[in-house]
Amino acid sequence: MDLEAVNREVKREFEEEWAGTSVENLLITNQYPRAKEEFACFEKFLPKDDLILEAGCGLGPKLIYFTQKNYSMVGVDYVFSALERVHQYNPKLTLAQTDVHALPFPESSFGAYLSYGVVEHFPQGPQQAILEAHRVLKSGGLIFMMVPADNPLSRFVYDEQNFLHKLRRNGLIRKLMGKPPLQPQEETQPISNYTVERKCVAFSRHRNFRSSTNNL
Ligand SMILES: C[S@@+](CC[C@H](N)C(=O)[O-])C[C@H]1O[C@@H](n2cnc3c(N)ncnc32)[C@H](O)[C@@H]1O
Repeated sequence: MDLEAVNREVKREFEEEWAGTSVENLLITNQYPRAKEEFACFEKFLPKDDLILEAGCGLGPKLIYFTQKNYSMVGVDYVFSALERVHQYNPKLTLAQTDVHALPFPESSFGAYLSYGVVEHFPQGPQQAILEAHRVLKSGGLIFMMVPADNPLSRFVYDEQNFLHKLRRNGLIRKLMGKPPLQPQEETQPISNYTVERKCVAFSRHRNFRSSTNNL
């Protein structure tokens, strides 16, 4: 597999995704019961008196939420256009464009590191990003890394070869639904959702992290 090509394609997909929505739309998702439950859970652990990094903040719904709750947040992403729009929404937020594999911060800068839906997109696996998170975290700092659940249902949903996805791409079906045919670029296999939950946990245990899944 050409890892660089896959990573370029993932970035392009995110650029497109963020171009098609708004900060305001994503802030609505913070009101979903699942999100509220998740935030309440994190708030039990996140330090109020230390910097918290959100690595891969996108259009910033979590960054904005936790900032409003008086946490000292820093948001980074490699999609500059997304950061520009977060900045327009709130020019006081601290943002930087960077790759999560090479963060522009000294060692031991943060009390916590948040990562929502980021590392499962890396065809090379999450290890390098976790090591970089470890580098910028203070001793005893916390990593919250959300990745999709690895179970038969999620494997089916994300399998681009399943019959539902094939139907969705089928030219005749698209015509019947009044949709334009897919362009060749859109027909390439999406790369996203490389499921890494078990790899994250196994790797982090190996590096002597205390880890827990779904049981905070
Ligand atoms: C699924 S989105 C989640 C965005 C945000 N955390 C949220 O919950 O709305 C993943 C984000 O990670 C960013 N990302 C992916 N790989 C990255 C990398 N190597 N370096 C920096 N950002 C990255 C993408 O641009 C995207 O904004």
